[in-house]
Amino acid sequence: MSETPENETPAATGVPEARDHAAQAGQLDAADPLGATIRDRFVLDAPSDRASGDAGVYLDGNSLGALPRAVPGRIADVISREWGEMRIRSWDESGWWTAPERIGDKIAPLIGASPGRVVVGDSTSVNVFKAVVGGIRMAGKGCTEILVDATTFPTDGYIARSAARMTGLAVRPVEPTRIADEVTERTALALVNHVDYRTGELNDLPGITTALHSAGALAVWDLCHSAGALPVEVERYGVDLAVGCTYKYLNGGPGSPAYLYVRESLQDRFDSPLPGWNSHAEPFGMAPDYAPADGIVRGRVGTPDILSLLALETALDVWDGVSLEDVRTKSLALTDFFLDCVAAYVPPGRVRSITPYDHGRRGSQVSLECSGAAEVMTELIRRGVVGDFRKPDVLRFGFTPLYTSFADAERAAWVLGEVLRALPEQDPRTAGAGG
Ligand SMILES: Cc1ncc(COP(=O)(O)O)c(C=O)c1O
Repeated sequence: MSETPENETPAATGVPEARDHAAQAGQLDAADPLGATIRDRFVLDAPSDRASGDAGVYLDGNSLGALPRAVPGRIADVISREWGEMRIRSWDESGWWTAPERIGDKIAPLIGASPGRVVVGDSTSVNVFKAVVGGIRMAGKGCTEILVDATTFPTDGYIARSAARMTGLAVRPVEPTRIADEVTERTALALVNHVDYRTGELNDLPGITTALHSAGALAVWDLCHSAGALPVEVERYGVDLAVGCTYKYLNGGPGSPAYLYVRESLQDRFDSPLPGWNSHAEPFGMAPDYAPADGIVRGRVGTPDILSLLALETALDVWDGVSLEDVRTKSLALTDFFLDCVAAYVPPGRVRSITPYDHGRRGSQVSLECSGAAEVMTELIRRGVVGDFRKPDVLRFGFTPLYTSFADAERAAWVLGEVLRALPEQDPRTAGAGG
């Protein structure tokens, strides 16, 4: 396996002698309670799909989750029977009309919520708008500002600034670790990402939520990169409002609808800035005046995207019998193991992890700073290892505990080492950094 020329030692070239972590990967996979049976619920590459005989490695489930095997059959049935044959009767008889709340109840246990607290529909961006404006409308009269996670995924910041402009409040970007110190009695709410999309850092949801409440502010969390990757406990920690997407770790498919969580004690006061007819107390009354429905239904807007919703509903069946504690244990073990393999296989100084080593601060991805990262990722993908690249120089590898194996992690690190040995180092800024 070694690529070391005969006249050089491995230490001199930085080339590892063998894939000495492969056996350990096999043992870890054999002992994995979320092993082959859960992985088999997904469509993934087989070794025969690639000329090299190696199965492709998919480490981009933090961007688009893999396809659950049961989804194509369900969607074929929805199209041919529920739409093709039953047509408009399906709104009632096939349960289309109530799908946003029904599927919300299926997401609820994954974020630590009770039934009736989550509704599915629209994009995350739209739900950020509903949550932020709805939150501002519930805040005390003297509030003059909202805080926004300074490291947020950009859409949250764009929407929050627009929401603040519409409601006459100021926006203050604050690092998540500083929110407890920066919140004041003038703060209506803070909008925070549970896991940082770029670095994979897990923010302190219990601590930040408590600090916000102590100052009288609401806590609005973006769960896009945590739900389905680790246990999230919105009710236990008193989260007020939360949003999240379903196409990453919830495997709902490209553009599958997002969700909105509203704490039970706030639902009566939740005044949606998008009061569409689907959230009306009597949608088919066609009244000119708006009267909100009770409960989480008031988070709905217009006609739901049924095909995507029902794909998501079936995708969520993969969680049957899965313990979120097992998911978290495996996620941390996978990311630890990948970091070990990277240290063993990658030439020293070529990458530096910007994901915290501390388990308490890590989500389910590993982000490596690497000069020439765009080109490196292109070459990784060409060799069958799919992660992604974020500007300016970050390689992101997402670990989806339901289907990523330890063998995947080992192979990805090995191929990364091969690619970096094949490509010359481009930027001396990262030289000397640890593997
Ligand atoms: C943390 C986070 N928030 C919001 C979004 C945007 O979601 P949407 O495109 O569904 O509006 C994303 C998309 O990847 C995200 O990662």
